[in-house]
Amino acid sequence: MAMNNTEKVKTAGSLLLYEQAAGEIAGLIDQGTFRAGDRLPSIRQLSKRFDVSINTVMQAYALLEDKRLIQARPQSGYYVRSRVPEIREPVVQSRSFTPPTTVTISDLCYQVMRNMMNRDLLPLGSAIPCADNLPVDKLSRIMASELRRCGDQSVLYQMPPGYERLRVQIARRSLAAGISCGPDEILITSGCVEAVLLALRATCRAGDTIAVESPFYFNFMQMIAELGLKALEIPSTPRDGISIEALRYAIEQGKISACLVITNFSNPLGSQMPDQRKQELVELLARHEIPLIEDDIYGDLTFGNERPGTAKSFDRTGLVIYCSSFSKTIAPGYRVGWAIAGRFQAHMERLKMMMNVAPSSPPQLALAEFLATGGYDHHLRSIRRIHARNISQMADAVARYFPPGTCMTHPAGGFILWVEMQEGTDAIQLYHSALERGISIVPGPLFSLSNKYTNHIRLSAARWDEQIEQGIKTLGELAHELQPQ
Ligand SMILES: Cc1ncc(COP(=O)(O)O)c(C=O)c1O
Repeated sequence: MAMNNTEKVKTAGSLLLYEQAAGEIAGLIDQGTFRAGDRLPSIRQLSKRFDVSINTVMQAYALLEDKRLIQARPQSGYYVRSRVPEIREPVVQSRSFTPPTTVTISDLCYQVMRNMMNRDLLPLGSAIPCADNLPVDKLSRIMASELRRCGDQSVLYQMPPGYERLRVQIARRSLAAGISCGPDEILITSGCVEAVLLALRATCRAGDTIAVESPFYFNFMQMIAELGLKALEIPSTPRDGISIEALRYAIEQGKISACLVITNFSNPLGSQMPDQRKQELVELLARHEIPLIEDDIYGDLTFGNERPGTAKSFDRTGLVIYCSSFSKTIAPGYRVGWAIAGRFQAHMERLKMMMNVAPSSPPQLALAEFLATGGYDHHLRSIRRIHARNISQMADAVARYFPPGTCMTHPAGGFILWVEMQEGTDAIQLYHSALERGISIVPGPLFSLSNKYTNHIRLSAARWDEQIEQGIKTLGELAHELQPQ
């Protein structure tokens, strides 16, 4: 018979004070007083309530962390973990990379992207924030008043590098990401995707090879195909991100023109590269004069209180092109992103001008004002809490409804989950069966060029409600049906 959490803790041994405290907390989790994703009382509160020392509560929490019942989030507190097992951290051999592959454009990819905005489908896979969690009313009010206040400016071009007031705000906020730069080093783009596209154009020519992490965000894969580039897939792990050892070996084997990495809460793995590895990555690439295109679109969505650092913060040679946007945090439809492009800044500005003259003016005006006065930090705290809770609840639902043996990532930020089903469960088949039931997900094979991740799917926890839970239940039933016998 399976042990409940209280028993797991009690079997730890004698009845030392901290074990008793841990047993009581585990009991509260068993009874459902605290559920997956809930924040537990602070150490100080518990010390008062149990009438024990702060140290005892700290030891109790440490014990519960060891038992993987709870997890600490830096500067935020202790939270109940979900029950679904974490994806195993694969051992990456330094020689394990797939040779550069010509990328072809996939019809399935377009179909999946079209489905994301189909309102008749339940969006279980799309990496788009839920509008309910965005400051829609406030932004609309700000937009209206900025259009009045700025008059002509709002209808004329804001030529590259873009609206200065917005660039000043972004420069100030970049300090939290460890990036110290002036407004003139920032180029406003139409979303993060355009920042990455300009970066690829500035660093690569058709036929060149670009190193990417595997699994890798499928939209960039399509971009790489359009530009006639070859992609070199370097293994990535949920904990550490791209394998620097494998990348080093790949660099020794052949010419790489650039490297594209999502450093924080990547899509789809949710990995947050430790800062030390970010530094190693920047230094390795700098030694070989290889530009790094860093996508940090999810960096502000940490579940802790402080956003993680960036590779750009370690850039001493101007070879790192930092790309981000407000699409995951404020307004994807505004299409406002930016690049801090180091050596490539002037080139990217020219490319931007050639491609579409300038980014749309009104959203830039509104975002500049929102960042200056709209309470962005308060908004971030709120969506971080919502996403952290949604992720835990979705993970718990996956544990309840999917076949045993299913495991998933436990990201510390963002709102994306990467689910690994039993080997032999066909993710593309699951995608089609789910569509027939009115549910959209993203099948794993889209995230690779070499037919990997055939039993993986990407889920999005941007929204959590009864309908979404019902959708996970249906998906779980379908996954049961598709399991190999
Ligand atoms: C890693 C990553 N980069 C970029 C984008 C798209 O950014 P934007 O809408 O700002 O162009 C996404 C959206 O899913 C993403 O996941």
